[in-house]
Amino acid sequence: MDSVTAYDRSGGDQHQICTEWCTQSRRNPTLLQTESRQVSSNQRHMHPALAAVVQKHLSCEFRKPVAAHNLAAFERLMAQVTANPRALVLDSFCGTGHSTALLAQRHPDHLVVGIDKSAQRLGKHPTGAGHNYILLQADCEDIWQLLVAQGLTADYHYLLYPNPWPKAKHLQRRVHGHASFAWLLQLAGRTGQMQPATKYASMGGIHRGEIELRSNWQVYVEEFGTAMHLAGYHGRIARVPAGPDLTLFETKYRQSGHELWAFTSNAPP
Ligand SMILES: C[S@@+](CC[C@H](N)C(=O)[O-])C[C@H]1O[C@@H](n2cnc3c(N)ncnc32)[C@H](O)[C@@H]1O
Repeated sequence: MDSVTAYDRSGGDQHQICTEWCTQSRRNPTLLQTESRQVSSNQRHMHPALAAVVQKHLSCEFRKPVAAHNLAAFERLMAQVTANPRALVLDSFCGTGHSTALLAQRHPDHLVVGIDKSAQRLGKHPTGAGHNYILLQADCEDIWQLLVAQGLTADYHYLLYPNPWPKAKHLQRRVHGHASFAWLLQLAGRTGQMQPATKYASMGGIHRGEIELRSNWQVYVEEFGTAMHLAGYHGRIARVPAGPDLTLFETKYRQSGHELWAFTSNAPP
């Protein structure tokens, strides 16, 4: 990985961390492969405004204009869904899409959709898309909104190491602090606010999907789990189990000695 594309610039403090890390790595190239700094934050515990922010977002309907490139990516996805209707698995913030390819093996009967906004990251995907996965260069929020508008749900939704936005003032940039959190819940079929059936609705089905979020910042996972709990969606928080790494960031964090945490929703009742 080169120093520019190693991290997303939009990652708040993470970019600052990366800049320092890359400066060191130029002096010691092997460091770039393995070293990653712990998340550093001025927020040591769950954000005091978390509950209020989540409640606000769940109590009002959020709509935003969809960017043209995201709409084009969504239409590519719908073409696949129409050609070969299968239930969906989402791999949001998929980076290079290594996890997408692995999840496609784990869910052979599903269409696995990797979404990342970075063309550079996606350009590092090692192989072309397999028969049951697709990579979209798009903003997750727009794809979530469009899926919800079509009445589609996802059987499984993986959010693996989203940017932590560790500054306290950036709570609303985190997945659970953003207004799009309501769409994330609707994609799991949790809110009862599904849109009227559309021509695609029968393809995804309406049922309760499972959600897994991983991070190397424990506070982030605790906040996400709490937000899910407030929304009536229960689960457990635990260390990511040992085993083959699912993503490149997971590998890097493990090699750097970070603790890795996961929220996993309960199996649907
Ligand atoms: C820390 S990386 C993790 C990548 C991958 N999941 C992994 O573990 O290797 C976070 C990723 O989120 C992507 N990203 C950030 N905000 C996004 C958004 N709103 N929509 C889509 N991708 C986004 C970045 O481009 C980056 O690839």
